[in-house]
Amino acid sequence: MTTLMQDALNGGYGVGYFEAWDTYSLEAVVEAAEETNSPVILGFGGMMASAPWLDNGGVEMLGALGSVVAARARVPVSLILNEAQTRAQTLHGIEAGFNAVMLDTSAWEWQEAVRVVAELTQIAHARGVTVEAELGRLPDATADGIDSSTAYLTDPIQARDFVAATGVDCLAVSFGNVHLLTAHDAPVDMNHLAAIREQVAIPFVIHGGTSFPAHAIPRAIALGVAKFNVGTILKTVFLRAVQEVMGTWQTFPNVHEVLGSHKETDFLEAGKRAMKEKTRALMQLYGSVNRARIGKETTP
Ligand code: 13P
Repeated sequence: MTTLMQDALNGGYGVGYFEAWDTYSLEAVVEAAEETNSPVILGFGGMMASAPWLDNGGVEMLGALGSVVAARARVPVSLILNEAQTRAQTLHGIEAGFNAVMLDTSAWEWQEAVRVVAELTQIAHARGVTVEAELGRLPDATADGIDSSTAYLTDPIQARDFVAATGVDCLAVSFGNVHLLTAHDAPVDMNHLAAIREQVAIPFVIHGGTSFPAHAIPRAIALGVAKFNVGTILKTVFLRAVQEVMGTWQTFPNVHEVLGSHKETDFLEAGKRAMKEKTRALMQLYGSVNRARIGKETTP
């Protein structure tokens, strides 16, 4: 992932991380990347999934699935375990084949976050695994609007100190971007991003890709953003497509045709097609289309 981000910074484009949750969604991302000749970051997130499920083999299953798909990809890819909620989940992710990890310490106390992320970075780097961290905390969109009660912007000086103390490879930053928002664009403050860039030289990551304003993408890239994380809009278009197919059923369908067959008749394939289309459009916006370097070895 470090290489993909560095190539993006050098080339003046962004690499998308399109968060998957199963085989259909993961295939949607890798196929979108292959069809557009785009480098991409594959992976799964730990924030929305059940913690007991993740802790009882879920991380290992996702790592195994992701490793197979990554190894078969015909474009440069990385495989991240995003927003792991515990140190243990992150370490299991490294064991399970993820070659990039992110531990979500945005709600942690400073000293503890620095200590654990620094230790994690040492372990990860010894295995050739990239580490992403976050400083600052995004607001979440809810049914009632934007909940900013626990949110805070990334402080530029703190960000500089955090990166120096932990040795992380890239940093997720908060400058008005919002998680889970589909209703409108997030009110991003590009001057704040510029202030963080004055203090921090490593690649930046934008979480809340769903609501990141398209017009702000070029400036964000010029200010050091190498990676855009997208989640909510992908699940939204997937579910809408699936719902639409189900709405056409007059009678209870042949279960073997519609569920898990991977044929045209599989209703989950309709979700995959919709997600692939959205992913391709975002790759175009980030400028990663036709940036896959031919002959480059894929990892892991
Ligand atoms: P959105 O769901 O708002 O696109 O954010 C995704 C994300 O930040 C995953 O890390």
